[in-house]
Amino acid sequence: MKNLIIINGPNLNLLGKREPNIYGSLTFTEFLEKIKGKYITASIDYFQSNIEGEIIDKLQEVGFSYDGIILNAAAYTHTSVGIGDAIKAIDTPVVEVHISNTFGREEFRHQSYVSPNARGVILGFGLQSYELAIQSFLE
Ligand code: DQA
Repeated sequence: MKNLIIINGPNLNLLGKREPNIYGSLTFTEFLEKIKGKYITASIDYFQSNIEGEIIDKLQEVGFSYDGIILNAAAYTHTSVGIGDAIKAIDTPVVEVHISNTFGREEFRHQSYVSPNARGVILGFGLQSYELAIQSFLE
């Protein structure tokens, strides 16, 4: 059994209602139920926060014991030196995910403080990006 956690950053609590043309119409709770039933060889925890420091606290809390972290830091991806430093500081590998293809969007979304220290980056596949990240830890 692999202990994984999905950490979502700001505004991702609004999935399902937020810009559905970009982010889809499924809520994260519905999606999470589906993947928990599908990937039975993983224990998948979930944490979401709109607060940068809480995301850093969670990375520190799980980052020395979990097998993998799937991180969508959302807007903080593009701004947070603190989240980038936290990823550097912990032992657990982080896979960066994004629902949208950030490289096809505004220029400011092309910068990531997460990518340089992530094991890999998966973006642009909608919610399937999270599934591909889970699979990367299970294979
Ligand atoms: C996002 C992309 C970010 O640029 C944006 O700020 C988000 C969501 C994505 O999953 O596509 O909130 O991380």
